[in-house]
Amino acid sequence: MKNILVTGGTGYIGSHTALALREAGYQPILLDNLDNSELFVLDSLEKISGVKFPFFEGDCRDSEIYSKIHELYPFDSIIHFAAHKAVGESVENPLKYFDNNINGCIVLLAAMKKLHVKNLIFSSSCTVYGNPENAMVTEQTPLAMPESPYGYTKLVCEQIIEQVLNSSSNLSASLLRYFNPIGAHQSGLIGEKPVGIPNNLVPYITQTAIGIRECLSVFGNDYPTQDGTCVRDFIHVCDVADAHVAALKHIEKQTKPSLFKFNIGTGKGTSVLELISSFEESTGIKLNWRYADRRTGDVIEIFANTDLSNSTLEWKAKRNINDAMRDAWNWEKSLHDLNNA
Ligand code: NAD
Ligand code: UD1
Repeated sequence: MKNILVTGGTGYIGSHTALALREAGYQPILLDNLDNSELFVLDSLEKISGVKFPFFEGDCRDSEIYSKIHELYPFDSIIHFAAHKAVGESVENPLKYFDNNINGCIVLLAAMKKLHVKNLIFSSSCTVYGNPENAMVTEQTPLAMPESPYGYTKLVCEQIIEQVLNSSSNLSASLLRYFNPIGAHQSGLIGEKPVGIPNNLVPYITQTAIGIRECLSVFGNDYPTQDGTCVRDFIHVCDVADAHVAALKHIEKQTKPSLFKFNIGTGKGTSVLELISSFEESTGIKLNWRYADRRTGDVIEIFANTDLSNSTLEWKAKRNINDAMRDAWNWEKSLHDLNNA
């Protein structure tokens, strides 16, 4: 079994990807400093897969950790999820984000060079397209200055990776630009665990439905979209996980150093109101919501053109938003049970 180092491996997308890797016959080796995840995730992964995943508690900015892991579990490829991702916090404390996200990426690239690790799959975001003129973006859509320091770290890391690749003779990378990952594993054993009041729509919906929040505010109803609310490309987190396996298989096939950029979305735009209807339809729960003012900095409408990822990676999102909302709800109920146990 091939070892794959997964940084941020106990986090939301990392844990789902670890499972997908294992199912595809890889051995994921997880590295995480548990800044935004907890050890119970390892037990849940074992419950779902029937095997224990090797885990290292450590920081991506620690250059020694890579040699230590490599000695025990030699690896050729890294999937780099580890980063801070709270947009609001990044506005208040940009240096924290520059240090963790950008520095983490630099230290990792240096370790890859030192250990002759060939392949990198990097977690980027559609935030690198800013507020695009055309809602459907391709990988060729010009990049724009993101609204937040968090978004800026993704743009900078993409550029750093590109420049390091240009100067290097044997490194390949795939930059995966995720749209809006939502939902959870169908077992209800792993999912997203937001800290404090959620900023993102789906955790806010499920927390409102379970009674932690009183009412969902829908930010803006007068946008130039089909129903006046913003439009996003919501994609099931298990489809995002599968995209990593596909990207890994694809990069392993390369015979010369290469750089790829892929949109990881469904190709379909869904409005905030449509997502609420999907939640109500797939759970049978009537959600308490009301319109509120627009949220500063919101992109009006964005969704992925997925032609390139579909054809090159031979990957396509298989699950729909009803599946995602059902799984997000099951996960919220599991979290409720965990918290009350
Ligand atoms: P997450 O916070 O659940 O997972 C990130 C994990 O990285 C956490 O477990 C955290 O403890 C760990 N971590 C953070 N800094 C670290 C460090 N210096 N060393 C070791 N571990 C560290 O986030 P996620 O939603 O799973 O996101 C994964 C990646 O995808 C991030 O890079 C994020 O920016 C990117 N991304 C996420 C989304 C989204 O909506 N979730 C969208 C676009 C891009
Ligand atoms: C957010 C991040 C972005 C990140 C992306 C994916 C911001 C400004 N941007 O974007 O950097 O890459 O998540 O994780 O936070 N909404 C409500 N009520 C709520 C919450 C959200 O109406 O309580 C609306 C928003 O206005 C938006 C949509 O729901 O129109 C989606 O919001 P959200 O889940 O925060 O994702 P993004 O805005 O796409």
